[in-house]
Amino acid sequence: MSTKLGVLAMYMPGRKLEELSFYRKLSIFGQKLGVDVFIFTPDDVDDNRMRIHALSYNKATRSWTRRWVGFPPIVYDRCRYHGADNYRKITRFRQKYTKLRYLSRPLANKWIVYRLLSENENIAPHLPSTVHYRSRKQLEQFLKKHPVVYMKPKSGTGGRGIVRLQRLRGSRSYLMQGRDAERRILPATKVTAAQIPVRLAGWGLQSKYIVQQGIPLELKDGRVHDFRMLVQKDGQGKWQVTGCAGRIGPPFSVTSNLHGGGKAISMETLLKSRFGTEERVKTIKETAYTLGLRVAQHLETKFGTYCEAGIDLAVDPSGHVWLLEVNPKPSRDVFRLTGDLQTYRKAIRRPIEFALHLLQQKAAPKAGTRHLDLVPQPRQSESQRDRSD
Ligand SMILES: Nc1ncnc2c1ncn2[C@@H]1O[C@H](COP(=O)(O)OP(=O)(O)O)[C@@H](O)[C@H]1O
Ligand SMILES: [Mg+2]
Repeated sequence: MSTKLGVLAMYMPGRKLEELSFYRKLSIFGQKLGVDVFIFTPDDVDDNRMRIHALSYNKATRSWTRRWVGFPPIVYDRCRYHGADNYRKITRFRQKYTKLRYLSRPLANKWIVYRLLSENENIAPHLPSTVHYRSRKQLEQFLKKHPVVYMKPKSGTGGRGIVRLQRLRGSRSYLMQGRDAERRILPATKVTAAQIPVRLAGWGLQSKYIVQQGIPLELKDGRVHDFRMLVQKDGQGKWQVTGCAGRIGPPFSVTSNLHGGGKAISMETLLKSRFGTEERVKTIKETAYTLGLRVAQHLETKFGTYCEAGIDLAVDPSGHVWLLEVNPKPSRDVFRLTGDLQTYRKAIRRPIEFALHLLQQKAAPKAGTRHLDLVPQPRQSESQRDRSD
């Protein structure tokens, strides 16, 4: 009998599943590795009879079919935040079934993650200066210190509700650009510092926003860019950088997220076009890779074992590497879009290999090995809700 891996998903309107094509590939890799992958949502769980009406992919007929299955020994949680109702269902499931082993877990909002990462002296120099929004006065002080400032919702996703403020030379004004909560690009406007909270009234600055030093990331054509790194546990339970790729935002956008119209490009091509020599590119890449691994490791000490993180990185014109954000439920599309199919396949395979590793460990726990069931589940709260890319 093969090992079971349950993917915890969520129904979108019309009972659609968000990442079905990813789940199909996951199922096919699973079959190759002797793992029976099935997909379910909290709505498919029969709590009384402890069984799940799950979807599984049949490669021969190329179709999804439903069948009743028992609880899997291991769950890959792919639920991103899609409204309070869905969030409540997922939280309830995770709280009810704490004994299940989870491959992935919610991390925390951007502000909590920033504070946890700044405890680490190797990571701190890579964090843009960040504060929680408190008042207009505090924002004014911050704007005096940094020529470019980003304001971001701490639980935001996909570039929603992000505003960039750029000090205008020889003036007391700022150029304000960004995207609203529905990710629509806002027209660029000239504002004074005092006008900013007025313009953004209703955005919940005090309760929801962080204010961050902006990293200059405009390319020659005015578009912004950054990098998405995928860090994953491998089949031996070791953190590895699976890959890293560049993203270039669309015109007039201050964010580079792919869902917001960003384009994927290979990291090497992008770095070479900016820094020229192989030597510089190599050094920057090494710094980025070391940082990505450190970030994953550090967060693991805070939240317990998890299988992967998508890390948004920026490289400023001097070549310094900055960490913008950590995503606990990363998409791997960036590698498909750059045509790096080897990395894309590895990115799909690794969670299955890591699941097998965890199960083998459970079968034969070594003396002194910290038993994963004992790792406390961090409490989920509204501030820790899952964020997507
Ligand atoms: N401090 C910053 N400096 C420059 N660009 C930034 C900064 N913070 C965010 N961005 C841009 O905005 C995008 C979205 O920001 P991010 O923090 O990743 O939030 P989200 O969760 O919405 O993806 C980034 O991918 C990057 O393009
Ligand atoms: Mg991001």
